[in-house]
Amino acid sequence: MTGLTAYFGLLDKGEPKAGETVVVTAASGAVGMVVGQIARAKGARAVGTAGSEEKCRYLVEELGFDAALNYKSETFYQQLREVTPDRIDVIFDNVGGPLLDTLIRRLGMGGRIVVCGATSQYNNDVIYGPSNYLALATMRARMEGFIIFDYEDRYAEAREEMIGWMKAGQLKFRENILDGGIADYPSILHRLYEGENIGKMMMRLPAAMG
Ligand SMILES: NC(=O)c1ccc[n+]([C@@H]2O[C@H](COP(=O)([O-])OP(=O)(O)OC[C@H]3O[C@@H](n4cnc5c(N)ncnc54)[C@H](OP(=O)(O)O)[C@@H]3O)[C@@H](O)[C@H]2O)c1
Repeated sequence: MTGLTAYFGLLDKGEPKAGETVVVTAASGAVGMVVGQIARAKGARAVGTAGSEEKCRYLVEELGFDAALNYKSETFYQQLREVTPDRIDVIFDNVGGPLLDTLIRRLGMGGRIVVCGATSQYNNDVIYGPSNYLALATMRARMEGFIIFDYEDRYAEAREEMIGWMKAGQLKFRENILDGGIADYPSILHRLYEGENIGKMMMRLPAAMG
């Protein structure tokens, strides 16, 4: 499901073109890692943001991202400017909050912001929305959300293209499977919000529970 989310969100809403720059947040997560690799497969530049140096190295060295930046670094914006010399054409956003604000500062003319999710905001009573949304006017840009279930009748087409990329070595995926019982579910879920996963986080129940 996360792969399909990456596929339709990026291609249908982000519409990346060869040579353009795509920036994806939570890039080492299940959706984000696929977004970056699809961008590359379509000839665009892929820049990811993640919460640790280890995750950034994984994105560049293992998955072939053009660049990956630790959004917790004090020099994050300066680094972002360096790796996006022609500004950003597509922001594929999984986290929302202040990080999205920072990326919007770097949005280019005709840019597209794909609202996939807002992990940084799910536990907040008051949602932090973009304070600099007027960039959408000055940059003639658009911001659009989507829900994957609306694409159900096109899943087969996405799977066929993604299997082709996997066979060609252009698309890799990583799973993060933890053993536990029902009582462990809250603490395992919480790891997503602590950034402790790389790839798709799943919980495996003991065999006795089926
Ligand atoms: N629109 C749809 O139809 C659809 C479908 C499926 C999923 N989604 C959404 O897509 C997003 C990604 O899903 P996923 O399964 O791939 O999750 P995920 O990215 O595997 O897991 C969450 C990651 O988000 C990052 N994160 C957590 N808190 C953060 C914060 N405060 N600021 C910045 N980054 C933070 C962490 O990585 P770092 O190390 O980078 O901090 C963490 O590893 C979610 O928001 C989900 O709700 C939308």
